[in-house]
Amino acid sequence: MFGGNENSSTWKIGSQIKFTVESGLFQGVFTSEVIGINSRQGLIRIKFPMSEGKLVLLPVGTTVTVGHEALPEQDNKYIIIERAGGENRSLVLKHMDFEVNRLVCIDPPRDRQLISVCSGKGGVGKTTLAINLAYALAELDYKTCIFDAALGTANVDVLLDLAPRYHLGHVITGKCGVMDILTEVQPRVHVVPGCSGVQPLTQLTIYEYNLLARELQELFRYFDVVIVDTSAGITPGSVNFVLAAQEGYLVTTPEPHSITDTYALLKTLVTQRTRPLNLNLVVNRVYYRPEAESTAEKLQFAARKFLSFELGYAGFIFDDMRVREANMRQKPIVEGEPSAAASQSFRAVAEQYCQPADGKSRGQGGLLERIRQIGKRA
Ligand SMILES: Nc1ncnc2c1ncn2[C@@H]1O[C@H](COP(=O)(O)OP(=O)(O)OP(=O)(O)O)[C@@H](O)[C@H]1O
Ligand SMILES: [Mg+2]
Repeated sequence: MFGGNENSSTWKIGSQIKFTVESGLFQGVFTSEVIGINSRQGLIRIKFPMSEGKLVLLPVGTTVTVGHEALPEQDNKYIIIERAGGENRSLVLKHMDFEVNRLVCIDPPRDRQLISVCSGKGGVGKTTLAINLAYALAELDYKTCIFDAALGTANVDVLLDLAPRYHLGHVITGKCGVMDILTEVQPRVHVVPGCSGVQPLTQLTIYEYNLLARELQELFRYFDVVIVDTSAGITPGSVNFVLAAQEGYLVTTPEPHSITDTYALLKTLVTQRTRPLNLNLVVNRVYYRPEAESTAEKLQFAARKFLSFELGYAGFIFDDMRVREANMRQKPIVEGEPSAAASQSFRAVAEQYCQPADGKSRGQGGLLERIRQIGKRA
């Protein structure tokens, strides 16, 4: 909650803050009172400063240099990120570290602990994959968390028949943290619910993405795998999460328009990446295995030839009307109908996740790893 951690902060609630502004509109030294602190997110809420008996209406985006003997010179720049009016009139200052201008890179402590699920075309089965992969990995003894970052059109909660009171929208507005909204579906599957029908959440600022990225990192302490469901297409929503995560499943169907949209997203991701990116294709709604293989080959060939990028292949999912029926019942097919063709396909993708090409088990929660550990103890 905003206002926490004040004891460990440079600032104290109630203390005076003095800062210098040199913007096009305002110049001068102002003083105000600190009324809230969130050290973990580098935020200070202050009363509106006054000058000659008038409020100084500093706009959002203004850079301020604060004076504090405990802060080295290079560390005293803040930016105004929020201006609240009415009775709660206040300004929120955000510490001006690199995160204000650049996307945070999410670095999970363990290899492949974070997977984003994205697609060029909508409705190709991202959410269905995210949920069933989580359940299939849970069967393999991985503690999994689905982070519903398809902001604006989030629906993991709907497909799992959850009715969460709080969601990522509340995290973005600072009402609570990600751990406050975590919802248990079964002992090894949890969900961080997203929100739908909230238009401003489809256009987050970099600061807001970074806030979510930082919150997401809390989950690595509790889960073996965090699966991020994203919205379709070349939107900042999907691109930012995939680039921050570094690791992703790119979902396509064998249909030509899905393949071209997949290539378009892939091209954007490859050209915008600033560090290594590991993307693996999942071909969904497949009738015959060769159909999946030829789809993967086409995209892998195009990625290699035109983007000089090695696109991986994580497997395929059979088209199975029981997937739709399971979604209608709001229960993942992997759990409800374990012997269905699609359930077996989801399990194959999960098993492929656990068995990388180098033969080492991924993460520390894998069944094989646990068996090995037990063997060592015996
Ligand atoms: N393997 C499959 N076999 C049959 N139907 C499927 C399969 N995978 C997904 N579907 C169906 O396709 C539809 C879209 O699935 P889903 O919502 O998972 O897609 P999405 O990519 O998350 O969509 P959006 O882009 O809107 O987020 C759903 O009706 C789902 O039941
Ligand atoms: Mg979806």
